[in-house]
Amino acid sequence: MEVKLPELRLKMGEGGSVADLPSAFGGDFKEFWLEIGFGAGEQIAHLAADNPSVGLLGCEPFVNGVASLLDRMVRDNIENIRIFDDDARLLLPQIPEKSFSRIFLLFPDPWPKKRHRKRRFVSPEALDQMARLLADGGEFRFASDIADYVRWTLEMVTRHPAFEWPAGSPRDWRERPAEFVETRYETKALTAGRRCSYLSFRRKSR
Ligand SMILES: C[S@@+](CC[C@H](N)C(=O)[O-])C[C@H]1O[C@@H](n2cnc3c(N)ncnc32)[C@H](O)[C@@H]1O
Repeated sequence: MEVKLPELRLKMGEGGSVADLPSAFGGDFKEFWLEIGFGAGEQIAHLAADNPSVGLLGCEPFVNGVASLLDRMVRDNIENIRIFDDDARLLLPQIPEKSFSRIFLLFPDPWPKKRHRKRRFVSPEALDQMARLLADGGEFRFASDIADYVRWTLEMVTRHPAFEWPAGSPRDWRERPAEFVETRYETKALTAGRRCSYLSFRRKSR
């Protein structure tokens, strides 16, 4: 980890600024995707291996998660991921607008108690940042096994003027999208009998 992390950390300028993603990644990628809170890195590693022309940026402050993703990257020879090993809320304002074509927030910490809901990642401020960072037509992908968090997100995102929810039928949110793998977190939720929902929102044209 001591060797690999400095090499794979997103390259940032003075005060943590990011002038543009191609130079911060140090590679030639056709588009960029972001995963917020990658946990053990199963999903981002899977997406990166399946999409070698895409540069994926993963944010995760939990050191064991970062170590686990680095192990996977070495084991599977994955070269198109860069890491921000801290709170995503510090990074998002530093990145130029329209940088990403997809943003993933999968099984975020649920904060199920009413008095803790304001700690949830999905908030009007976070949605404003995601709306700024997504290119026109870009996607915000969300998943959760906590019904109240799914309702909360649906309500907040559909109220936001920059997003639309193009779902047509229950299959669109009940079935795991074909490009995802089942993560350990998701397996635990399913084993405990909790239903998972997968929401895909589209960034409207500016
Ligand atoms: C419940 S886990 C889910 C992990 C993974 N997405 C999955 O589906 O297996 C939520 C993760 O989000 C991370 N997280 C929480 N708040 C975060 C933040 N502000 N910025 C980046 N990551 C965050 C946590 O450290 C944790 O690893």
